[in-house]
Amino acid sequence: MIVALVALVVAALALGFALGRARRAVRTPVVAADAPPAPDARFEQLLRSITVGIVTIGEDGTIESVNAAAGAIFELGSRPVAGRAIIEVVPSFELDRRVREALAGSPSRGRISLSRPTGRRALSVATIPLDGADGALVIATDETRLQELEQTRRDFIASVSHELRTPLSSIKLMIETVLETDDAEAIDLFLPQVAREVDRMVHLVEDLLELARAESGRLRLRRENVDLASVVGNIVTTFEPRAAQLGVAIRLRSEETRIDGDPDRLAQVVVNLVDNALRHTPAGGSVTLDVRPTHAGAALVVRDTGIGIPYNDLPHVFERFYVVDRSRTRDSTGTGLGLSIVKQIVEAHGGDIDAASEFGLGATFTCTFPALRRAYAAAEY
Ligand SMILES: Nc1ncnc2c1ncn2[C@@H]1O[C@H](COP(=O)(O)OP(=O)(O)OP(=O)(O)O)[C@@H](O)[C@H]1O
Ligand SMILES: [Mg+2]
Repeated sequence: MIVALVALVVAALALGFALGRARRAVRTPVVAADAPPAPDARFEQLLRSITVGIVTIGEDGTIESVNAAAGAIFELGSRPVAGRAIIEVVPSFELDRRVREALAGSPSRGRISLSRPTGRRALSVATIPLDGADGALVIATDETRLQELEQTRRDFIASVSHELRTPLSSIKLMIETVLETDDAEAIDLFLPQVAREVDRMVHLVEDLLELARAESGRLRLRRENVDLASVVGNIVTTFEPRAAQLGVAIRLRSEETRIDGDPDRLAQVVVNLVDNALRHTPAGGSVTLDVRPTHAGAALVVRDTGIGIPYNDLPHVFERFYVVDRSRTRDSTGTGLGLSIVKQIVEAHGGDIDAASEFGLGATFTCTFPALRRAYAAAEY
């Protein structure tokens, strides 16, 4: 019994010593540059370089020390925090409550959400009591990015399911009608619609595969010294009959503009931009394409006089599945993937794309590409 008690006291003393050393180490991170690091210095170095935030709280509930990562995670800036209560420097009642519980002997672990000047942050925080009333330890990691990715993945799956479910339910309905009827007229009406819906789904799945390839860096460009003006010229020619049918004038102003590009992918960019422009421009309007060399490389501008894009939607049009308002278009078949694919292709070329619009007065999409020599260095594809 006595032996067990002595062992316990020795263990407690050893733990107290180690934690005391840890706290001192966090507080006074001094390492001589040339001397070989002593064990204490190594420990200090470790605390300074790990990406996990560590805050030690004294038994009176005030902060004793913070490591660099904690300073960054809680956005403490350069102000001194030692000797202040945690609630004074980190505005979270939840964290304050958990620290007080840890000081009273109850550990906890979980996420807290923190509103900071740079935005909302999601932190994973553990609060650990240090031998009873002696203080507490706060260990924090920033999971904001992880949470955003989780949200993006959830949104993506929801959008894909929605985009596939809608045409599938209408196909199912039409097929059931065709199966139940002898009416040749109804069959003639529904079967072409079924074919159209299936086409749309095939198109959607192809776009998704394309996007997945692009986003995982597997978009292979077959680059060559190509005249962007002639790529654009060919596409404009193929769109002329459709533009005429819609009553929209399509114009091209171009001069020879050589870039290191994949002609097929560049054609895909132009097709998407012109298709969008035509779908959003009422009869009597115009779509103008400009291709020219610039001091930095090359520029392709697609400008239309259509309905434009509302200011609030403008920053989002390159996001996957973003459609401003289905009721605005001539047809409601768009899935909102075109511009995200366009952006991926332009960026794979080492270029950039920008959208500008005055609502009601048309939209302008500007793609810029690096000059011939620099393009290979800019993109790793
Ligand atoms: N020239 C334009 N004028 C007005 N709105 C536009 C224009 N281009 C794009 N938009 C808006 O941006 C949204 C996203 O365009 P995007 O090309 O990504 O998708 P989409 O055309 O709807 O579908 P998809 O291209 O996948 O068939 C469109 O739904 C539309 O609301
Ligand atoms: Mg489109």
